[in-house]
Amino acid sequence: MTEQSFNTKIVHNNISQQNVGKSKSTPIYQTSAFTFKDLDHVESYYAGDVPYLYTRENNPNTNELGQAVAQLEGAPAGVASSSGISAIMAGIFSVVEAGDHIVAAEDLYGGTQQLITKQLSSFGIEYTIVDFSSEKAIKEAIQPNTKLLYTESITNPFLRVENIEQLVNIAKEHNLKTMVDNTFATPYLLQPYTQGVDLVAHSATKYIGGHSDVTSGVVVGHEELINKANQKVVGLGTNLSPFEAWLTQRGLKTLALRMKQQSENANAVAGQLQQSEDIKQVYYPQNVSENGHGAIVTIELAHHVNVDTFFKSLDWIKIVPTLAGVETTVSYPIATSHRALTDEERQTVGINEYVVRISIGIEEAQDIISQLLKAVQTAK
Ligand SMILES: Cc1ncc(COP(=O)(O)O)c(C=O)c1O
Repeated sequence: MTEQSFNTKIVHNNISQQNVGKSKSTPIYQTSAFTFKDLDHVESYYAGDVPYLYTRENNPNTNELGQAVAQLEGAPAGVASSSGISAIMAGIFSVVEAGDHIVAAEDLYGGTQQLITKQLSSFGIEYTIVDFSSEKAIKEAIQPNTKLLYTESITNPFLRVENIEQLVNIAKEHNLKTMVDNTFATPYLLQPYTQGVDLVAHSATKYIGGHSDVTSGVVVGHEELINKANQKVVGLGTNLSPFEAWLTQRGLKTLALRMKQQSENANAVAGQLQQSEDIKQVYYPQNVSENGHGAIVTIELAHHVNVDTFFKSLDWIKIVPTLAGVETTVSYPIATSHRALTDEERQTVGINEYVVRISIGIEEAQDIISQLLKAVQTAK
């Protein structure tokens, strides 16, 4: 080896490029690209014989996350991306192009609704938003250029459990694809792909990651569609960083434990809050799966309760515009997740200034209940 000067040595300091031994946890491949020994070696990437070239195209950590979620959902393929929204976008783009039409549920996460109505429409993708609890409404919305039916397995924030069987049947009748956001349910509770859904998306920022320390997304489904979704992630540059993929996958390992505890807690919290005269309505489904019914409880406070005082009276339950961490948190849909909707759109789905979404954590259920009831009591 030729003698190197300081300035050369300093950048060629990868002492070992080998993964010494078999590390228990997958190493973080925090690299933007991979090295090649000669030009034939470069060509062998394009021939499919070498797996990695450039991290925006693929990387061991992001691949592993996509495959891990696909496996849990019972799907053959999956791709990770920079956020839930970008995973949803990649999935939708794998089915539709300019001039095509989507029929989407009216009670989606506000950001997804905006993606469809504001962003995708600017690419020439048409849409109709309807009440998916009505089979008739879905069927009537289908047009000759419709390609995709889009919904959430458990909707945000009112937790309507989608009738997947009905949806898949409508899609089959009309030769359409289906896509379901399974963020609230997670594969621990529901696996829509195994029920015939073509594409399943996750904001992995939520329960898949589980610790509120990462923003990421995954879409899983048939190989052919996921290949197309992957081309969108690569081509639009919405890839996930290796470290974020690694963090998400670390969180994923405890998904079952977290969801079990959080669902049990949520069931107990919903039951207790239903007893309170200061809470007008408690939304918590009872028909999700034998593993539980999810960890979100949405309430509409009675209209004599001062909402501002309710939020201020919470102590360790923080106001956080996300969900699914191990800590119980509250959010205010009208001000955050559904802020971008018009008043009319919010009214249609029932979001008003008394609606509070509670993301139940892994704490002791009784502590969560006491704190929520104390805040309601103080605010009435
Ligand atoms: C059900 C659902 N889907 C998708 C998203 C978007 O995910 P992200 O914020 O990771 O892009 C969210 C975010 O809150 C969500 O609640």
